[in-house]
Amino acid sequence: APEQVLQGKKVTITAGPTREALDPVRYLSNHSSGKMGFAIAAAAARAGAEVILIAGPVRLATPAGVTRVDVTSTDEMLAAAEKAADTSDLFIAAAAVVDFRPAVVAAQKIKKEAGSDSDVLQLVKNPDIVAAIAGRKSRRPFVVGFAAETEKVIEHARGKRTRKNLDMIVANDVSDPEGGFNSDRNQVVVIDREGEQALPLALKTELAAQLIRLIAEKAFGSP
Ligand code: PMT
Repeated sequence: APEQVLQGKKVTITAGPTREALDPVRYLSNHSSGKMGFAIAAAAARAGAEVILIAGPVRLATPAGVTRVDVTSTDEMLAAAEKAADTSDLFIAAAAVVDFRPAVVAAQKIKKEAGSDSDVLQLVKNPDIVAAIAGRKSRRPFVVGFAAETEKVIEHARGKRTRKNLDMIVANDVSDPEGGFNSDRNQVVVIDREGEQALPLALKTELAAQLIRLIAEKAFGSP
């Protein structure tokens, strides 16, 4: 049995994409499969935590011992995250949240005859879920975010960590076809106030176990 580094801790994890409707048949989303977040949820449960996994639309089985909350839109993910975070010691945001949503959701299927060829989709900014949890004045868990970057990975991830007031950020270079979205593997650099630690390319399941050990040590001290 693995070390029970999260024994007695409550952990909330977001995973997968969100999905924003344009009309009854179309949506905006991204290529997140949920594999990274689900692997972290499984590793946290194996480490003894009580785990709530807030999942966007993905095709994955619920890991053993994990309570799953299915959501679709960013607003739904935010509401579920706010509720779960109230009683959590640790919050890990592995979801790929859609940053912008259509300003209006058409009640009927949008007809191509209705607009000109150059009709532009109007978008509004979605709320930032991990920043909302990390910005709390009370009932604030230890907050870990991810950063999916395609260039200047470390620099951009550092900026995101401080801007969103995160305790830790896990930077991944999603331009690398070996890792990132939908792959079974990933390689990351974990960044906190004190420094950085690179975790080399590994299966997401193995990487998740390493991340949980590292996060547990930083958040709750060494066992
Ligand atoms: O799901 P997989 O196919 O396994 O792929 C894994 C992954 C690449 C999706 C994952 O490892 C990852 O990097 N997740 C974060 C993806 C992302 O959208 O990163 P970001 O740099 O745009 O966002 C930074 C952080 O803010 C993330 O923790 C994100 O969850 C959070 N966020 C972003 C926007 C928003 N509106 N709300 C948020 O909470």
